[in-house]
Amino acid sequence: MSSADPPGSPSDPPASSADATRERAPDAVPEASTPFVRLGGEPGVRALVDRFYDLMDLEPAYAGIRRLHPSTLEGSRDKLFWFLCGWLGGPSHYVDRFGHPRLRARHLPYAIGIAERDQWMACMIEALREEAVEASLAKRLAEALFGTADWMRNR
Ligand code: HEM
Repeated sequence: MSSADPPGSPSDPPASSADATRERAPDAVPEASTPFVRLGGEPGVRALVDRFYDLMDLEPAYAGIRRLHPSTLEGSRDKLFWFLCGWLGGPSHYVDRFGHPRLRARHLPYAIGIAERDQWMACMIEALREEAVEASLAKRLAEALFGTADWMRNR
């Protein structure tokens, strides 16, 4: 984690429950309880990202952030999918392709304030719900993502 990143930044993934598991069962495989695994691995993360961008594309409530994105969302879908895989404790597809995420710097071209942060979060929370992500995991992810989304604000 670089000193430029706040807690909850993308390089600071949500704490896994692996530590607690390890205390109770020394032989447990920690990887089994990463958020990535609990979401269903790559197919689960991809489904969440696709739902997120489908909602952004269709719902008038998210038009404010939809218009910041390119006309086609295919590239955005891939990048968020690659990023979230690593952030959730899975394979580091994003870093392998692009290096350090530097997410705040990469968002500077887009005007992001409170309204945009809150639309992004509402869209993600709706996607988590529609993908039937277990409630405790969805709550923990939303809290961690809020830290990152708030850090993206640049106005
Ligand atoms: C706070 C509100 C946010 C807004 C309005 C926003 C908007 C955008 C826009 C317009 C792009 C460019 C899309 C493209 O290049 O196709 C982008 C890229 C991206 N966003 Fe966000 N974003 C927000 C928050 C977040 C958060 C919280 C995350 C991660 C958890 C995230 C992850 C990414 C990633 C990985 C990229 C691709 C960066 C690149 O490689 O160029 N964004 N975002």
